[in-house]
Amino acid sequence: MSVHVIGVEDLEVELNGEKILSGLTFRIEGPSLIQVIGPNGAGKTTLLKTIIGLIKPKRGRITLDGVPADPKRLSNIVGYVPQMTLSEVPIPITAWEVVLNSLLLHRKRFPRIRAGKSDFEKVRKTLELVDLPEDRWHKRFDKMSGGERQRVLLARALVYDPQILLLDEPLSAVDPLGKVEMAELIGKLAESKLVMVTSHDPILLLPYTDKIILLNRSYYAVGKPEEILTLDVLKNVYGESAILLESHVHISDEH
Ligand SMILES: Nc1ncnc2c1ncn2[C@@H]1O[C@H](COP(=O)(O)OP(=O)(O)OP(=O)(O)O)[C@@H](O)[C@H]1O
Ligand SMILES: [Mg+2]
Repeated sequence: MSVHVIGVEDLEVELNGEKILSGLTFRIEGPSLIQVIGPNGAGKTTLLKTIIGLIKPKRGRITLDGVPADPKRLSNIVGYVPQMTLSEVPIPITAWEVVLNSLLLHRKRFPRIRAGKSDFEKVRKTLELVDLPEDRWHKRFDKMSGGERQRVLLARALVYDPQILLLDEPLSAVDPLGKVEMAELIGKLAESKLVMVTSHDPILLLPYTDKIILLNRSYYAVGKPEEILTLDVLKNVYGESAILLESHVHISDEH
């Protein structure tokens, strides 16, 4: 059970001299599901990357359980699923190997020792958990469809059982039925882990969501879904299209 706490304190991030995030302060605690929403370019990916230490903030700090987050400690506690982009570097290894390599890399001792039966069992179970059809397991990762790759990337993060999961738009390329199943899986994971998910559609994960962080560069609001998914709050970020987003929320509430 994850009882970890991530603290973001007065965070300011600049990329190429451009201020992307500023004055961001919040605290999230596991187990729970936190959604980060906001328009394209709002800084959602930047926030996740800063939390795991891929981007160094210009100001402020990230804490893990009350102390400054140390990248080495983070790498064993946190599983990160990057946002899918179209320009993937060719990776000539199979889905199975992607997941197995991740498991071996995160082994606490003797990471270079050959994989054994229990490792293979873990890989098998994780690929089943993310519902990747078995006939894809030994196919090349870079030749897979977007949705298949998203499942493999989730399996890569889950296989070493991290207590914190940072998922950057994990449902974006998954088909409608898959989205519902994956949302259920993510909701289940959030019962025992601290899960932070970015998305453009907060509705699918809404039943499992504890907190929403609405973000747009230096604007942010943090609260329970019912506090954030209101026209008054959403219009700060989405302007006129907030009406649409809110009406979706009502539709979802009524069913
Ligand atoms: N390496 C970089 N160098 C310079 N600017 C960057 C870099 N990475 C991101 N940016 C800029 O930072 C801003 C925030 O990008 P980010 O990827 O965090 O947004 P996002 O909220 O994840 O958007 P999306 O919904 O499209 O995924 C964008 O304007 C982007 O162009
Ligand atoms: Mg992004």
